[in-house]
Amino acid sequence: MIRIDIISVLPGLLEGPFDHSIIKRARDKGLAEINVHNLRDYSNNKHRKVDDYPFGGEAGMVMSVQPIEAAITQLKSERNYDEVIYTSPDAPKFTQSVANKLSNMKNIIILCGHYKGVDQRVRDHLVTMELSIGDYVLSGGELAAAVITDGVVRIIPGAISDSSSALSDSFQDNLLSAPVYTRPANYKGWTVPEVLTSGHAAKIDDWRHEQALEKTRRLRPDLLDDD
Ligand code: ADE
Repeated sequence: MIRIDIISVLPGLLEGPFDHSIIKRARDKGLAEINVHNLRDYSNNKHRKVDDYPFGGEAGMVMSVQPIEAAITQLKSERNYDEVIYTSPDAPKFTQSVANKLSNMKNIIILCGHYKGVDQRVRDHLVTMELSIGDYVLSGGELAAAVITDGVVRIIPGAISDSSSALSDSFQDNLLSAPVYTRPANYKGWTVPEVLTSGHAAKIDDWRHEQALEKTRRLRPDLLDDD
């Protein structure tokens, strides 16, 4: 069972993504609990303000320490957390190996970044892990938090009904996955590679591995350079 607490200024953005398919099933089975907290509920300000102008006079707004510290302190008083994750483009990348590691944890907080980002003191004193989902800038960290949550929860044992399926995903072995086909074997002259209908399991495995290697070399040679 993993519990993920997401802290956000736009909780409405996170209402849909966890109510479908594998993630819904994982929640229904009690494998995952996902809670979304509105950061404004923790603001001391009478207008529920959660941001302020940056010192030094830069453009944009900065998320203030107070509501974030209050939200995280409240959650930490209820249970221990393995990681307090902050989503931001200026952070190390979320990869399959990070997802694998997080999926073994019990309690995680994800703090969604917004505006110019959080006051650096939040990152220095409260956050234990920073993650970017890629080299592009989104309008907020909510979609990144949804991506991370989905990537983590789907690989918890029992979330996917066929457990071998998660192991053959792209990236689990640093390779992109091989092409897949389903019936019919011939659709208007578009045929399926013969080996797949041969019934020869070892040959099919070899073919899949070759295809995965070829595709990775062609589309993502960087994955073959790693470790
Ligand atoms: N917030 C805005 N852009 C982001 C990104 N690429 N990854 C994580 N959080 C973000």
